[in-house]
Amino acid sequence: MKALVLAGGTGTRLRPFTHTLAKQLMPVANKPVLFHCLESIADAGITSTGIIVGGRGDDLRRAVGDGSRFGLEVTWIEQREPLGLAHCVMIAADFLGDDDFVMYLGDNIVSGGIGQPVKEFAAGRPDVLLMVGPVDDPTAFGIAEVGADGRVLGLAEKPAVPSGDLALIGVYVFSAAIHRAVRSIVPSPRGELEITDAVGWLVEHGADVRAHVFSGYWKDTGQVDDLLDCNRELLRTLEPVNLGTVDVGSELVGAVSVAAGARVTGSRVTGPVVIGRDTVVTDSRIGPYCSIGDGCVVSGAEIADSIVLDGASVRDVRAIERSVAGRHSRIGGVPAGDSARRLLLGDGSEALIEP
Ligand code: G1P
Repeated sequence: MKALVLAGGTGTRLRPFTHTLAKQLMPVANKPVLFHCLESIADAGITSTGIIVGGRGDDLRRAVGDGSRFGLEVTWIEQREPLGLAHCVMIAADFLGDDDFVMYLGDNIVSGGIGQPVKEFAAGRPDVLLMVGPVDDPTAFGIAEVGADGRVLGLAEKPAVPSGDLALIGVYVFSAAIHRAVRSIVPSPRGELEITDAVGWLVEHGADVRAHVFSGYWKDTGQVDDLLDCNRELLRTLEPVNLGTVDVGSELVGAVSVAAGARVTGSRVTGPVVIGRDTVVTDSRIGPYCSIGDGCVVSGAEIADSIVLDGASVRDVRAIERSVAGRHSRIGGVPAGDSARRLLLGDGSEALIEP
C-alpha cells in the first residue's frame, strides 16, 4: 500500500496568509496541517508516499524534506496546473504502478487517523473504499449514495439536489482499477477531472465500491473558521508538558504545553494552550484554545481561541478572540493618551474593530 497526498491547492480562501505560506503549512495546534496528514499515513503503516505539489512546492519540500522524520519515503510529483483530483492520479501513475494506495487531501484533518479504513480495505479487497461522513450542507461536497450493505450506488460532485448527506471526506483507498477510470472521464463544468466522476464511472461499470462511514471529527481546513475549529478540536487531546520556564507569579491551569526555551512570567494560562519554542509571555492571560507559535511575544495581553504564527507579537491589548496572526505580524494596543487606531494591513487582510 502506498499513499498519495494532494498538496497542490493554492488556498485562495485562506488569504492573506496564503500569499506567503502554503495552505498545507498553516499550523493547527502548532503543527502544519500537512504534518498531521503525514503522521496519519505513517501510523497506518504506510511508507512509500507521493506528494503532489503546485506553485508552493519548494516550501513544502523544504518543510517535509525526504520524509524520514515521519518514517516515510517521499516522492515529489509536480502538477503544473490545477486540473483536478483525478488528474493528480494520472500524473502519479508511474509512482503508483499497480499498487493499492490511499489518496489523502493534504488540507484535511481526520481525527483518529486512517488506520481503520486501510484495514477494512485490506480485509474486504473492494476496488475502492471511500471514507464518508454526514454533513450539514451536502451541496458543498462530493456526495455518495450508500446502500444498506455499505456499497456505493452512485456519486455526485457538489450536487444541487443531493441524494443524501454522506460526503467524501478527502480520504480514498484505491486499487489499480482507478487508473482506467481517470482516463475514461471528461472535465467537469469547473474544468477539472473530478475523482468523484472517476469513482462514479467505476460504479457504473460494476466495480465493487464501498463506503466507510466515519463518525469522528474531520474538517477541510479551507477557511479561517475551519482552522480555528480544528485547532480547538486537536487541542482537546493536548498532553500538558513544561519544557520551558514558568515563574512563581504565573499559573498554568489545565492542559498547557510550554516548549523548550519559552518563558512565562506574571501570566495566567488556561488550557488547552500550546506555547512554542522561545516564545516570551509576560503579564498576560492566554486561553483557552490558543496555539502560540515559536519565537512570539505576548505581553500585557489577553487572548483566547486564536492561532498566533511564528514570530508574531501581541502587546498591550485585551479581548483578542477567534483571531489568526500571521508570521511576524504585530497586534498592539493604542498607546496611552492616543485615541487613534493605527493599522498596517497587508493585501486581503481583515481587521474587525469596535465602532
Ligand atoms: C474536494 C472533492 C469533494 C470532497 C472534498 C472534501 O472538494 O472534490 O468531493 O467532498 O474535497 O474536502 P474541493 O475541496 O476540491 O472543493
